[in-house]
Amino acid sequence: MQIRAYFEEWSRRPGERVRMAISTPLPEVRAELVRLPKGPGAAGECRIDSEAVAEVAVMTVPGRIQHCPVGSYARLPLGGGQADGSLSLSCAIWPTLPAKGPQTVWAIEHSGGMLKLVVANGRLSLTQGETLVTSDMPILARNWYSVVATVGPEGSALDVYLLKGHTRMRHARDEGASCAIGRPEVLMLASTGADAARRAVDCYNGKIDSPRLYSSVLAAGECRELHLTGSTKVKASADWLIGSDWSSRALRSLVRGVPDGELVNGVERGVTGRNWDGRSDSFIETPEQYCALQFHEDDMVDADWSHDLDFILPKSLKSGVYAVKLSAGPETEHYPLFVMGPKTEGASALFLASTNTYLAYANDHLAALDFSAVMTHDMVVPPDEKLLFTDPQFGRSCYDTHSDGTPVRYSSRRRPIINVRPGYPNWLTGSYRHFPQDMYLVEWLERSGMDFHVATDEDLHREGAALLDKYKVIVTSSHPEYWTRVGHDCLDSYLKSGGRLMYLGGNGFYWVTSHDPERPWVIEVRRDNSGTRCWDAPYGERTHVASLEQGGIWKTRGRGPHGLVGVGFASEGWSKGSGYQRLDASYGGPGATLFKGVNEELVGDFGHVLGGAAGDEVDRHDVSLGSPAHAHILASSTPLGNEYQLVIEEQTLALPDQGGQHKPSQVRSDMIYFTTDNGGAVFSIGSMTYAGALAWNDFNNNIARITTNVLEAFASELPPE
Ligand SMILES: [Fe+2]
Repeated sequence: MQIRAYFEEWSRRPGERVRMAISTPLPEVRAELVRLPKGPGAAGECRIDSEAVAEVAVMTVPGRIQHCPVGSYARLPLGGGQADGSLSLSCAIWPTLPAKGPQTVWAIEHSGGMLKLVVANGRLSLTQGETLVTSDMPILARNWYSVVATVGPEGSALDVYLLKGHTRMRHARDEGASCAIGRPEVLMLASTGADAARRAVDCYNGKIDSPRLYSSVLAAGECRELHLTGSTKVKASADWLIGSDWSSRALRSLVRGVPDGELVNGVERGVTGRNWDGRSDSFIETPEQYCALQFHEDDMVDADWSHDLDFILPKSLKSGVYAVKLSAGPETEHYPLFVMGPKTEGASALFLASTNTYLAYANDHLAALDFSAVMTHDMVVPPDEKLLFTDPQFGRSCYDTHSDGTPVRYSSRRRPIINVRPGYPNWLTGSYRHFPQDMYLVEWLERSGMDFHVATDEDLHREGAALLDKYKVIVTSSHPEYWTRVGHDCLDSYLKSGGRLMYLGGNGFYWVTSHDPERPWVIEVRRDNSGTRCWDAPYGERTHVASLEQGGIWKTRGRGPHGLVGVGFASEGWSKGSGYQRLDASYGGPGATLFKGVNEELVGDFGHVLGGAAGDEVDRHDVSLGSPAHAHILASSTPLGNEYQLVIEEQTLALPDQGGQHKPSQVRSDMIYFTTDNGGAVFSIGSMTYAGALAWNDFNNNIARITTNVLEAFASELPPE
């Protein structure tokens, strides 16, 4: 993968500017805007069909290597008013990898050099060029320590106190050599800054609570006061407000003359601090217990590359899924671009690309997990994906943990994303998943002859209800899993005011998701302690800083998918998918119209993804969970294998035999249809592999027939009830 690239914006309207950043060691790159009208073909085929856009000239730009900034830290300028000669710095720390090599907890750049507090091999040391003093206190991972460092003409000291837990040693005070201290200029937290490859140097992993600078040597008694209460009567010469401005990258200064500081590369706020006592699990209620910042050596929320391409989309360009095709030497890569319809025009249908899902899974490291018990095919990880494990510049996904085991809660589209490219294979299904699979749906819409536009989750969040109201039918992707409150509310009101939805995926409308208000290219996902999840929320850290929403699954907020689209997450597995057995409702009433031309009793028992229309993540209709009782259950999946287990949120006790063969009444996918207020309607199929069946046999099959029948009815007149 020698050509890496990303767009400044993922979706644009005709007439708008597109900018793209590229990195390649190859000398020259040829760039061409192309339309992507087709899906990837059969499993293993990985086809990329494209049509050139003649109105945009082919561009050629020189190749160059650009680096992604990796590792978070804070830069806190101290202003001109600091005194020289002596200083003290107090803070509390919660290190996550203290046994690793040297990590800079903080560094003070002063006119005479750089004073650093370093943690390495489980010990804290104060250094300036050489080590001044090392603390006797063993530093253990995920424990809170109050640390006061002092330096003056008489010498230096490290005064360390363990704040929680039982131990043989709670307090250690160690004294060492002096060093010359000039006028402090900048306080750096968690690193001394970035190297030439933009990687944070000796990055500290963990939390830092309430760093404060003093222009004198604090006495032992004052250190003790700080350890026990978090404060002292001695006036700080620099101090910052951490327990506020939760989503801001600026750190407000509390001392006159000291400017605000800057948080770099995704420093986390809204995390529990040294004094969190479990009284509340949100910083909204007890902000004084959330005065910590959290740092990771592998944080990456904006590649921040220079742009290599800059062009305007033709005003006449038809909405759809496009790509910039980049060619250099023997390499060719396609990076997708979503082109919306004109702002004031609608169409019969809107395909809503689930960019929040693409982002949540962007560059995921799930291949590190063992899924062998729930998949029956061989696991073949594409070569490009292996790069993720060796090159931290790709960043991580919201399915991953950081190198220190803490969860990744942010994902950015401003970086090269390996698994959001057309034709990209997926090892979990042995075929395709997410964006590459969604291209089957795009191909089906292209073939339908119906006028349709494309927009993204992010567009919906930004433009709100006005975006949806222009369309008769909304068609979802195969996995619209991550929804903001705005998106959720807009879809709900669209359906209540007569809108029509084809939910053609599985496990949709599931996780609470937020867009960072300062950086809309970043999503925040703080999971809960329930829901089918790959990491558990750290206690006290569920609330999203971007939106103040309580994180978790929408179901626990009373906004679950059952009440919105009639079906909700029931199971997941990656052995062979099933077909749908037709039920009585498909032979009469509106079902007869929607199944017109279909003679088989079993439909969708085929497909390019897991060999069945019902598979991967599947949803069922369940009135007890909020599904509408008046829905027509048109068909239900035939029993899935035991690789498909009942979702964990429906189990309160750990019991065996929760698989598809044991619990077919719960582990299943339902195909349903129901009407909403004012002439609205919903068709839901509750399965991620459905799109692969739609495309089977060149779109000549009973699933394609049913789906096209629904699209045509939804775009014109609903069948009589
Ligand atoms: Fe998912």
